Amino acid sequence: MAIAAVDVIGVVGGGQMGSGIAQLAAVAGFGVWLHDTEPSALQRAQKSIVDSIRRLVSKGQISQFAGTSSLNRLRYTSNLEDLRTSDVIIEAIVESEVVKKKLFSELDKIVKESTILASNTSSISITRLASSTSRPSKVVGMHFMNPPPIMKLIEIVRGADTSDEVFMTIKSLAERLGKTVICSQDFPGFIVNRILMPMINEAFYTLYTGVATKEDIDTGMKLGTNHPMGPLQLADFIGLDVCLSILKVLYEGLGDSKYSPCPLLVQYVDAGRLGRKRGLGVYNYQNKTSAVDPLSAL
Ligand code: NAI
Repeated sequence: MAIAAVDVIGVVGGGQMGSGIAQLAAVAGFGVWLHDTEPSALQRAQKSIVDSIRRLVSKGQISQFAGTSSLNRLRYTSNLEDLRTSDVIIEAIVESEVVKKKLFSELDKIVKESTILASNTSSISITRLASSTSRPSKVVGMHFMNPPPIMKLIEIVRGADTSDEVFMTIKSLAERLGKTVICSQDFPGFIVNRILMPMINEAFYTLYTGVATKEDIDTGMKLGTNHPMGPLQLADFIGLDVCLSILKVLYEGLGDSKYSPCPLLVQYVDAGRLGRKRGLGVYNYQNKTSAVDPLSAL
């Protein structure tokens, strides 16, 4: 079966996932366009990528030449049209079906006929995102784990119409990025979040109903089940807004009350306590003495 050539990757959304995906792709040798509507997000992404690539060089994980060439392969833009020459676009914007569909419909008009549109969505239906384009066979889920440069897995999600050629091209791309691939059919939460989010939600219920402190819940799951970090730490790391969106998709899509988001999680999100990216979630990351840094556990 033919696998399409991929040289240039467009990444849409320069937040924690998009910036990590852009860095990973540039270090792997692809030309990369990183787009965000917010110039401040692009500046933050550029700083985080430059710092991170410098760290890789200083630790000897890549050569100085490889670091400089990776940075030279990256372009930042707030103009979506700059992504028109991309062979694959990886979307990593806010976890909202309405906003993602609007973007997919715009991209469909801008990019080449052959371009594959991939979504890093954690839970939203690939089939429904594909329906907002004229190329449903070229739409696919490419779900990276956080942080993308470090985590070894990519979950590929096949929409109802994703072609075999597109699946094989994305599988080959994931392998060129050094990742192990698993494949999920298009049902809410796919594989990883279908199993992970009920655990995180239950950890919130355990906290909400006063069963234990946040520290004891996390320590219990770390040392009792050999997880590298506790579920509340992990939720802060993922982003509480992202966790809430995924739980809503599971609840609505599977129609089972067991996915109903814990009121404490909802309240934290309402209060803007979105986790590590905002300095406050279940834990406080501004006050270094009480903060637990999940990255240090990776
Ligand atoms: P984030 O909030 O850090 O970044 C989202 C970025 O998208 C922001 O910079 C925002 O300005 C930008 N954006 C929003 N609408 C846009 C538009 N229409 N066009 C261009 N840029 C736009 O979010 P994060 O955590 O990076 O998540 C992004 C996606 O990745 C979501 O779909 C999420 O479910 C998924 N994901 C998140 C993981 C996590 O651990 N946070 C893990 C795996 C997937």
